[in-house]
Amino acid sequence: MSAKHAKQSFPVDQVRRYLEPGPVVLVSSFAGGRTNIMTMGWHSIVAFNPPLVGCVIAAGNHSYRMIRASGECVINLPTRALVDTVAKIGNVSGADVDKFAAFGLTPQPADQVKVPLIAECHASFECRLHDDAMVDKYNYFIFEVVAAHVAPVPAHPETLHYTGDGTFMVAGKTISRRALFTKVS
Ligand SMILES: Cc1cc2nc3c(=O)[nH]c(=O)nc-3n(C[C@H](O)[C@H](O)[C@H](O)COP(=O)(O)O)c2cc1C
Repeated sequence: MSAKHAKQSFPVDQVRRYLEPGPVVLVSSFAGGRTNIMTMGWHSIVAFNPPLVGCVIAAGNHSYRMIRASGECVINLPTRALVDTVAKIGNVSGADVDKFAAFGLTPQPADQVKVPLIAECHASFECRLHDDAMVDKYNYFIFEVVAAHVAPVPAHPETLHYTGDGTFMVAGKTISRRALFTKVS
């Protein structure tokens, strides 16, 4: 074994730094006549068809109350140009601040939900709550993506990936191994 991969003991409460796949997203919501946005890193694909996305929205967040009330959200994909906005939105509560106005973001009407898309993001996925069975225990919501809006260029946007401690990685180089993808699933 090469010294390069010699591992050391690591605090288990920090493993999320390595397992959070990103990309970091901005989750918009609408309830009681008001909009909100939160930053989110803890999400994963649960199923392809119908497209289901699972994610943790901590109960203390204003977004939690809004999304429980409406059963809807939009998952927006920010890129490198929005990194300061992503950090700031994740450090202020929508109970105190109108985040669209405060951060100069443009709300755009969605097709299927009442929640606005964020115009400045590369992609926006309209979501409806699909399953709340794990919300009380884990704050884990499962949403169905009911409409998707994606900018065609660039094909590989510079998405942000959170590694903890206020540090983000930016997606960059791509590698194709298409010839090895022979399993039909
Ligand atoms: C990079 C980053 C990732 C975050 N990921 C999550 C997450 O996945 N789930 C969560 O509940 N909070 C997450 N947060 C914290 C929320 O964005 C933060 O508590 C925010 O202020 C919530 O806003 P709200 O109270 O208006 O809903 C993250 C914050 C940052 C900066």
